[in-house]
Amino acid sequence: MMERAQTRRRQCLQEMGIEVWVPNEARLPAGNAASPEPLPAGPSDPATLDWDALAATVTGCRDCALHATRTQTVFGTGNRQARWLFVGEAPGAEEDRQGEPFVGRAGQLLNAMLFAIGLKREDVFIANVLKCRPPKNRDPMGEEVRRCEPYLHRQVELIRPQIIVALGRFAAQSLLKTETAIGKLRGRRHSYADTGIPLVVMYHPAYLLRNPSDKRKAWQDLQFACTLLEAI
Ligand code: URA
Repeated sequence: MMERAQTRRRQCLQEMGIEVWVPNEARLPAGNAASPEPLPAGPSDPATLDWDALAATVTGCRDCALHATRTQTVFGTGNRQARWLFVGEAPGAEEDRQGEPFVGRAGQLLNAMLFAIGLKREDVFIANVLKCRPPKNRDPMGEEVRRCEPYLHRQVELIRPQIIVALGRFAAQSLLKTETAIGKLRGRRHSYADTGIPLVVMYHPAYLLRNPSDKRKAWQDLQFACTLLEAI
């Protein structure tokens, strides 16, 4: 069983064009046993909601025009006590159909990358900046982000991850509130909003499918995140 998992991991690494890296056990545990209580909620709306109320509010959200074109909302998936939170841009066509983030080809690559650092999809939490698919996969608009971001912020408060990985330029710039290019944001420790939670920036899996020669850099990004986590 173990051996099969190790072989699969090696295959994932090969798919990524990367030499084998053996993770330190200390990097691997799932869950966030040592995490403190959720941050205190403020008086405003999503900030006061528990998981179920938040999920229900997102499901019924009509705060921007995207509600009219979506099939369903994509709340996010995974371990609600995860140490790792991965944040992408917005659901694509397949995610809109299935109601789950990163289920298309980019999601398969993300799963392979997680596997390569000893994690399963169920160990981490995966979400997007936007909970609804922008039509024809156009870029999210500022107002859509503004309306949607309290939901993600509340998810962060409830999960209290030990690290956030922003997947791609859009998520990175939205979470960090910057227009700095992704090339300059990678490889550095940032913090998410006022939480102090470390945030690192990684190339988006969909970008990596189009630019496989950058998979090596994405692997460096993940290793950097592992190193930060190890130091916590
Ligand atoms: N791309 C994203 O940013 N998010 C998804 O959920 C799927 C593709």
